Amino acid sequence: MGHRFPFPCLPTGWYAIALSQELKPGQILSRHYFERDLIAYRLESGEVRVADAFCPHMGANLGRVGCVEGDRVRCRFHGFVYGQDGQCVETPYGGPPPRGARLGHWPVEEKSGLVLVWFDAAGRPPFWDVPALELEGWTNLRFRRFTIPTHPQETTENSVDFGHFTQIHGFTDGQITEAVKSEGELLTTSYRAMRGIPTPNLSWMQLPVDYDVIVRGLGYSQVNVRIDPLRIRFRTFVLPIPIDDENLDLTLAISSPFDLGPHARLISRIMVGIIGREIEQDLDVWTYKTYLHAPKLAKGDGPVGDYRRYVKQFYPLDADGNEVSDPQSPRPIQKQASPA
Ligand code: FES
Ligand SMILES: [Fe+2]
Repeated sequence: MGHRFPFPCLPTGWYAIALSQELKPGQILSRHYFERDLIAYRLESGEVRVADAFCPHMGANLGRVGCVEGDRVRCRFHGFVYGQDGQCVETPYGGPPPRGARLGHWPVEEKSGLVLVWFDAAGRPPFWDVPALELEGWTNLRFRRFTIPTHPQETTENSVDFGHFTQIHGFTDGQITEAVKSEGELLTTSYRAMRGIPTPNLSWMQLPVDYDVIVRGLGYSQVNVRIDPLRIRFRTFVLPIPIDDENLDLTLAISSPFDLGPHARLISRIMVGIIGREIEQDLDVWTYKTYLHAPKLAKGDGPVGDYRRYVKQFYPLDADGNEVSDPQSPRPIQKQASPA
């Protein structure tokens, strides 16, 4: 099947392979992302690791037959044990482990309630960071996850596609309060719109809602939302991660501050449903649209051109200026994870 999009399917960046709350100490999660089988696991000490799923001995899938033992992972097929750097440190046969028996580990950081893994098709170590947000005083993330046949560049373009907010999502009186700015991997913008919001007595009112959008690459968007008349604020993560060249998983995760009181927490819980519904409204567009290199933009459209210049940095080029496609090479550990 040919590529649906005229750009590589795996952009460089940090991606949420899981939420922290999905991964308990000693647990292993199986994931299929970046066209590979991967595992995410948490050591008994609390640190997280992300590794290739297949045991280098004879290929068992550690997401199925692996187990965490202290700070090591053991394959139950023949009992080979891998240490924190991925090196095989023990076999049940007693002799020295085979040379080169090493489980590929990926750069991973745990912060803001997210397990973030670094992907770069050119195999470069991380060259930017996602800052850690305060967790103290914030609720656990409430989340929904969608599998969508599209590309992270397309879902993230939504943030600057101001025209569709009224048409698809029914916002009214939309205004841009901060123009789009980008610097390196960071892109920010703010806007305000009127929209239906449940009030404390759970009737619906049209209220102004403020959105501050913070994009850090194509795997990580944070949107800080404020509904000033109700003194409500919460933060939202929009976290796409490519499965293959046709599909991604998109996790919507929302957290609110405890100090807002119970009714605000209730409303932010309802907002997971409301924003999840907005993603459902976008599904038909994302699933069936084509990518136009030269869209016929009109006054009133958002800064789509600026966005498309910004995203170019996430597709590495080789020495001849061609976009690098993924070499499927194992990646060395670049950074140790630390607990959230
Ligand atoms: S395949 Fe894992 S120990 Fe043999
Ligand atoms: Fe949208």
